[in-house]
Amino acid sequence: MAAPFRIGIAGLGTVGCGVIELLKKNGNAIADRAGRPIRVVAVSARSRMKKRICPVKSYRWASDSLDMAADPKIDAVVELIGGQGGVAKRLAETTLKAGKPFVTANKALLAHHGHKLAMLAEKHGAPLMYEAAVAGGIPIIKTLREGLAANNISAVYGILNGTCNYILTAMRETGRDFHDALKEAQKLGYAEANPSFDIDGIDTAHKLNILSMLTFGIKSEFKDFRTRGITCITLQDILFAQELGYKIKLLGISRRIKNKIFQSVEPCLVPADSNIGSVEGVYNAVHVEGDFSGTELSIGRGAGGGPTASAVVADIIDLARGRKVLPFGAPAEYMKKAARAGAEDVFSRFYMRLEVVDRPGVLAGVSAIMRDHGLSIEAVTQRGRDPGKPVSIVMTTHMVKQKDMEEAADFIAAIKSVIKPPSLLRIEHF
Ligand SMILES: NC(=O)c1ccc[n+]([C@@H]2O[C@H](COP(=O)([O-])OP(=O)(O)OC[C@H]3O[C@@H](n4cnc5c(N)ncnc54)[C@H](OP(=O)(O)O)[C@@H]3O)[C@@H](O)[C@H]2O)c1
Repeated sequence: MAAPFRIGIAGLGTVGCGVIELLKKNGNAIADRAGRPIRVVAVSARSRMKKRICPVKSYRWASDSLDMAADPKIDAVVELIGGQGGVAKRLAETTLKAGKPFVTANKALLAHHGHKLAMLAEKHGAPLMYEAAVAGGIPIIKTLREGLAANNISAVYGILNGTCNYILTAMRETGRDFHDALKEAQKLGYAEANPSFDIDGIDTAHKLNILSMLTFGIKSEFKDFRTRGITCITLQDILFAQELGYKIKLLGISRRIKNKIFQSVEPCLVPADSNIGSVEGVYNAVHVEGDFSGTELSIGRGAGGGPTASAVVADIIDLARGRKVLPFGAPAEYMKKAARAGAEDVFSRFYMRLEVVDRPGVLAGVSAIMRDHGLSIEAVTQRGRDPGKPVSIVMTTHMVKQKDMEEAADFIAAIKSVIKPPSLLRIEHF
């Protein structure tokens, strides 16, 4: 068997320890598959004294993780620290500049600096591997970069954040409101103490940005597209959606519309009996539409030490085998900013929930605004009758232009009897 492939691991938390455990448990099978053993030779983290969930005493401790980049006894550096800048970014740059392979699970780093890092990687002939950065155990990066490389992809979308999917599922299944479901997710370890990255859609936006760069070969910046999280979703929305035959899912969507790219992160209604509608709890799902492959949907665990380590080690095995691929499947210098599709270009069906004072003429006023904007209403449901008191009205539309719908919603919000701004969600049938 060939000489061991030697790695240095920076970051010994959930994922770092997951990688160490996985290599220990499956080391023999991995050596057979890679054609050589994979050996951890150095590790680093913030505190050497900290009690770890995995044994690390037998590895050399690098008090500065950056030293691993220059160490000739290390064949690849594995960054499992996190954060878009700081040590993680410095480690990526130093490693790639040294011409050494760099493996990471860091979606924030890739979403913010992916293109620059890819340029650096290609300049120095160093692989940049990031399978674990999107959808954990689902091998979607390899699927898009290699398995579907022959296709023109028209759309990639999915449920990319298990925390949000868990909360939305719990709300529907148990009738809890958003805050209760979030508290439960935190108790179970599915949500951070500060959950804003997940529930505000930022984590999904990071992952979507990486998928967009890879799928469409574009230089995409995640601040360029609209990101909405799930904090606006009420139990009422969930129950209305259910009554109408839908579920609410936080979707990251990247789609070609003519010669433009539409990207968005937002909660959408999807048919309850659709494939994506049946993905529940902490599971992730990614749907890809290729012109020759047709559509495919991959479902799996999007986070956690095990699934994420599985993806990290898959990258390490590829490196040990001597495989080299361009980070985004095509030369990074060809990646250009794409024309963006906006509300003017997007046609969709909509769900709109209104809180109004129950008085004669309100519905007529809303309908008139919809008519004046050329918006065709599919159905209207009013919950309860209580003259002079607040009631909920839900409308669904036929296919309409997003811009017209949003303008109409602004006018509707200005009606005196409308108590709150309308809750407007797209209905996605894909
Ligand atoms: N957890 C998941 O399910 C998951 C899923 C997909 C992707 N990811 C990504 O994987 C990466 C790691 O996540 P994680 O959940 O394993 O994080 P974590 O449990 O918080 O672990 C982070 C590790 O980084 C170390 N660290 C922090 N600052 C450092 C520094 N300045 N120098 C050296 N080491 C430093 C910490 O050291 P100490 O232990 O000494 O504090 C800790 O061991 C992140 O990019 C994350 O986005 C995680």
